[in-house]
Amino acid sequence: MNNKDVIIACDFNSKEALYAFLDNFTGKKPFLKIGMELFYAEGPEIVREIKRRGHKIFLDLKLHDIPNTVEKAMSVLSALDVDLVNLHAAGTNAMMEAALRGLTREDGTRPLLIAVTQLTSTDEERMHHDLLIDKTKSLQDVVRYYAQNAKASGLDGVVCSPLESALVKEACGADFLTVTPGVRFADGDAGDQVRITTPAKARELGSDYIVVGRPITQAADPVAAYERCLKEFLGE
Ligand code: C5P
Repeated sequence: MNNKDVIIACDFNSKEALYAFLDNFTGKKPFLKIGMELFYAEGPEIVREIKRRGHKIFLDLKLHDIPNTVEKAMSVLSALDVDLVNLHAAGTNAMMEAALRGLTREDGTRPLLIAVTQLTSTDEERMHHDLLIDKTKSLQDVVRYYAQNAKASGLDGVVCSPLESALVKEACGADFLTVTPGVRFADGDAGDQVRITTPAKARELGSDYIVVGRPITQAADPVAAYERCLKEFLGE
């Protein structure tokens, strides 16, 4: 299951912008992440079209609702034939188990399912103050605990910072996937990301998939940036 790869975060607000970006990639079919912005702008048809074009898709909608609602929603997403979907581990183990039931097709196949533990935009102070999580628990304690919940619920992995990959693998096993955003080239612009690593460092730290947006989508030559990323991450 551990096919290491680079996933391009397609944070565009229209299909036209996405297609113009993809036109650069003649003959290549990168793994793409479609998030809320593009999905809400264009609806499920954008997913069908990208699948028709032969790309793998990580549909990053971070579901979090009552188990019954998440189960039904996941069954709709599964029918779109996406490869990877996610939810918030904070929705409880019952919600994660319901999500897996919803995702599983009649023939037993299903997309991979990963959980958000704590968003990388949540720091320890907000976690204690806004979320009322016990002050004796560190951010790492919570990430580890939520990852273990995800594993116990049958999920395939988590979205986390590359800096948390090692602790997740230690707690949940080497096969438990870590999908990590917050990746920048050593000579690149960090933008609004704070805790960043390079593709090579993410590999070293144990990431299975790196999610890379602006360093590729805003590059003067997106294909060259994607290939550089692949090369540095896969070490080829
Ligand atoms: O442009 P950039 O490389 O920062 O894009 C990273 C992508 O990963 C964005 O789509 C962002 O929403 C997503 N992401 C993140 N941090 C998380 C979860 C998702 O940056 N914790």
